Amino acid sequence: MSGEETRRTIIEPFKIRVVEPLPLPTRERREQVLREAGYNLFLVPAKEVTFDFLTDSGTTAMSAAQWGAMMVSDESYAGSRSFEKFEGVAKELTGYRYVIPTHQGRAAEHLLFSHLIRPGATVPSNNHFDTTRANIEQLGGEAVDLVIPEGRDPQHLHPFKGNVDLDRLDAFCAAHREAIPCGMLTITNNTGGGQPVSLENLRGAAAIYRRHGIPFILDACRFAENSYFIKLREPGQGQRPVREIAQETFGLADGCLMSAKKDGLVNIGGFIALKEGRWVEHLRSLLILTEGFPTYGGLAARDLEALAVGLEEVLDEHYLAYRLAVSRYMAAGLNRRGIPTVQPPGGHAVYIDAKAFLPDIPPEQFPGQALVCELYLSEGVRSCEIGSVMFGKTVQGRFQAAPMELVRLAFPRRVYTQSHFDYILEGVEALVARKREIRGMRIVQEPAFLRHFTARFEPIG
Ligand code: F0G
Repeated sequence: MSGEETRRTIIEPFKIRVVEPLPLPTRERREQVLREAGYNLFLVPAKEVTFDFLTDSGTTAMSAAQWGAMMVSDESYAGSRSFEKFEGVAKELTGYRYVIPTHQGRAAEHLLFSHLIRPGATVPSNNHFDTTRANIEQLGGEAVDLVIPEGRDPQHLHPFKGNVDLDRLDAFCAAHREAIPCGMLTITNNTGGGQPVSLENLRGAAAIYRRHGIPFILDACRFAENSYFIKLREPGQGQRPVREIAQETFGLADGCLMSAKKDGLVNIGGFIALKEGRWVEHLRSLLILTEGFPTYGGLAARDLEALAVGLEEVLDEHYLAYRLAVSRYMAAGLNRRGIPTVQPPGGHAVYIDAKAFLPDIPPEQFPGQALVCELYLSEGVRSCEIGSVMFGKTVQGRFQAAPMELVRLAFPRRVYTQSHFDYILEGVEALVARKREIRGMRIVQEPAFLRHFTARFEPIG
């Protein structure tokens, strides 16, 4: 081990040459903004947010190399040089022959599922992400989650909590073979907290899908973070280059859906890539109808240039060591100050257990939403409730809580530095000290569906 690898501090492996001012509204201003936004952080303007942890999607800081590549793009409608470059990088990484660009992940989902899903179809996975599930269900299909039981236990320290339950997967495939147009795995498992899937589990799932003759499609938007977790945690993988682990991962599947807004290190973009050509002609025709010509697919060529560079940069192991250190550092810091989080921390986010932190606030008073508001008031942090605001229901006048009351802090890539995190951790000490004063929330206005985006709240009492 070289000298640097024994150092305790993991540094940001980049120099910052373009900067953006950090909004620093006063506490008084934040109180006013929050009131005006009906205590819903989705309705708070970004200029009033100091630390924006709403999502890691599309919020990456691009590198000088990416901005430089954008300047030499070829914006030809058909057959552009930028597409060739992007296609070459994507093929080399995945080993797949066919690459179909889309403007983001859900467009790739919509395209593929429009071709594959008929009413009555069913698609197993570890956990489907919301948009993946919605795209399957919208076409009359069913999205089935078969993550291992440890993946549903917030405190379990299993190293690969994103793994699919192989026995259940096998039984499910045997029982429903005719209704399964494809099987999936999400790497890392966002729904379960950004938890990785092991190579062993990927091999097992691939063998099951192959045995049942079911095409295996990865939701690969955080493939690099997953590959680095494999390097760190899986026996026998520690000496392999992450690129090789990523290539083996893709090689086990028949194709992937990719939101490039995560590990593509870009602000917009996505793609479908496939080993075989069976679906490709149809997908390209649909693409022309909805996204654009097959060599740009809803993107500008400059976006393809940035993505070609991003897919290479994301495999830099100094970057990945730093990347996984961010959520680990924040989770440990919050835990030390008495704020419990889902364990172990995932790749892109930390999930605070609001029910455990605010035990006096019952689920019908939305402890997650109360904490989201408090984090904004005290720290200028924007986070996202994943609890009874998002998933709770009132059926025949009776409140039904979500299984967990979580608050997600998702970290943009290469945007915030360690001193930002230290500043937040310093501030939460005061928040923890007066947690008994934090009040629950009530909904005063809500839309018919997806209420978390636009509902308005007020503090109780
Ligand atoms: N799959 C996964 C696992 C995702 O996390 C996302 C997006 C998508 C697909 C859809 O991709 O946004 O490019 O259309 N996740 C974001 C998030 C929105 O905040 O977790 P998209």
